Amino acid sequence: MSISTALDRIADTSHFDAAIEPFRTAVNAVLRPGAVKDALHGVWLGHPLHPALAQVPLGAWMSAGLLDALPGNRKEASLLIATGIAAAVPTAMAGAADWSESEPGQQRVGALHAVMNSAALALYAGSLLARARGSHGLGRALAYAGLGLAGSSAGIGGHLAFHQATGASHAATAARTLSHDWMDLGPLIDFPDGKPVLRVNQDSDRPAPLCVVRRGENVHVLVDVCSHLGGPLHQGKLTDVKGEQCLVCPWHGGTFALTDGRAVHGPTVASATVLDTRVSQGRLEARLPERHQL
Ligand code: FES
Repeated sequence: MSISTALDRIADTSHFDAAIEPFRTAVNAVLRPGAVKDALHGVWLGHPLHPALAQVPLGAWMSAGLLDALPGNRKEASLLIATGIAAAVPTAMAGAADWSESEPGQQRVGALHAVMNSAALALYAGSLLARARGSHGLGRALAYAGLGLAGSSAGIGGHLAFHQATGASHAATAARTLSHDWMDLGPLIDFPDGKPVLRVNQDSDRPAPLCVVRRGENVHVLVDVCSHLGGPLHQGKLTDVKGEQCLVCPWHGGTFALTDGRAVHGPTVASATVLDTRVSQGRLEARLPERHQL
């Protein structure tokens, strides 16, 4: 069985859900929706923060492993291990913020990722302690064990990102199914003012769900798939964030600026896909922006 298949099996099994749930509840109790959680998701960066931060402890620990293999670098290796331990704290917090608002399969594999990272962290803490007491052989052995665990766990993180699409934009994927031509969505006056509605471009050879929001003279058309986990945006609520008109996803509260789709509140950090629009003879037309066209 391949590692990928084994991880898919873990994602499918509900055996450990009862053990996972208290942790998810605790994370959501500590990290409530707001500025801190948005910062940990990486909304300010426009990119998931956790995988970016993870480079620091992994890089530091790997460098320490190289120095440990050479004579005369005890102090430098210890400094790198301590740097990795310090960086692991915000990295874990960012990962926990994302994990708490992921789907069950992602949470199961994510829980394994977290357990392995915690074990690696404990091994590195033990390594640092052993080095401080002068047991450099033990310190090296614990550090290499930690590196093996942290490296394997990073591979699981890759599975979460690439196989389970954690942190990937589901909106960008959905956009690729759309026609690249102007799509006729019907008479503009048929769209109610201030209420998101669903339209499927039936006339196209590639029908796809679209969310249409008319605010007076302004009309916005978005792919009806939230970038976070694919929630139906037309079921969301309109809101005002710092004077900007936004749409809130009904599933986890991800909030998008209507003008350009930018994520203004997490858990998502990727933009919603906003289509180009025009009104021709009273009928609304929309087209996929150039950057999404294949
Ligand atoms: S699906 Fe999670 S915020 Fe939309």
